[in-house]
Amino acid sequence: MGRLAGKIILITGASGGQGIAEAHAFLAEGASLILTDLRLAALEELAKALRHPERVAIAEQNVSHEPDWESVIALARTRFGGLHVLVNNAGTLSRQNIARSEVSRWDTTLAVNLTGAMLGMKHAAPLIRDSGGGSIVNVSSTAGLGAHYDAAYTASKWGLRGLTKTASAEFAEWNVRVNSIHPGQIDDTSFFRDGERSGFTEAVRRSIPLQRSGTPLDCAKLVLFLASDESSFITGAEIAIDGGSTAGGLLFLRGKLQNSLASDNFS
Ligand SMILES: NC(=O)c1ccc[n+]([C@@H]2O[C@H](COP(=O)([O-])OP(=O)(O)OC[C@H]3O[C@@H](n4cnc5c(N)ncnc54)[C@H](O)[C@@H]3O)[C@@H](O)[C@H]2O)c1
Repeated sequence: MGRLAGKIILITGASGGQGIAEAHAFLAEGASLILTDLRLAALEELAKALRHPERVAIAEQNVSHEPDWESVIALARTRFGGLHVLVNNAGTLSRQNIARSEVSRWDTTLAVNLTGAMLGMKHAAPLIRDSGGGSIVNVSSTAGLGAHYDAAYTASKWGLRGLTKTASAEFAEWNVRVNSIHPGQIDDTSFFRDGERSGFTEAVRRSIPLQRSGTPLDCAKLVLFLASDESSFITGAEIAIDGGSTAGGLLFLRGKLQNSLASDNFS
């Protein structure tokens, strides 16, 4: 028996780095999947690679459009007869600081990362309740735990962290658990491929106490745990998955600085 046997799981932003890793991992553990994204062609490719058409449904969806949520929830109901897990994984960057913020990009980022996740919970939670209870995982970021150069992204991910707490209280009586995860730098995602600025990327990597970036599979394993009944007493929690950056990044960098000052005879 797989760890997710019999579970029906909806993943948004499923054709991106983490979504693909989750789709493979969850399917291998026995789940049925509804995979959605803006990019239908990429979803079709993913569905082909997964090789289990009887347990995989795909749908084009913009998470910031409420009617798209209605269609996707209807699909879960008609195709698989219910829903146990929602992974609010879709996300976008605005790549602008406060001083250069264009309101349209600010609005889009909040609409996708924050409003999209709220709409997902609004529409999915009642179906999860009616299916016997389950779990919602909101993919925030270390940008939801501290400062980040991208102002709208930071605000949206902090908002999602707070919304997760509210949702955990609101949906507890429905036996729907809600938790947030907070990835740091994750390789093999469009965030780090498209946004590749080698100096920046390398500086982030070297500042991670565990001395490596994360992988989509690292995140998939954490989401799998939160999606499964193994985490049945965990709700309203936030889990950093960042190689120790949030907890100990400052101490780690201070140690490095101290060593470099000593070798330069500054101390
Ligand atoms: N990659 C990282 O380093 C990193 C770090 C922290 C948090 N995150 C978060 O992880 C989540 C997954 O991202 P990823 O790392 O796989 O990056 P990714 O860019 O590879 O995947 C994101 C996916 O979201 C989809 N998407 C964007 N806007 C959408 C919309 N309006 N409606 C539906 N789908 C939409 C994209 O098409 C893409 O497939 C995101 O929420 C992101 O903010 C990523």
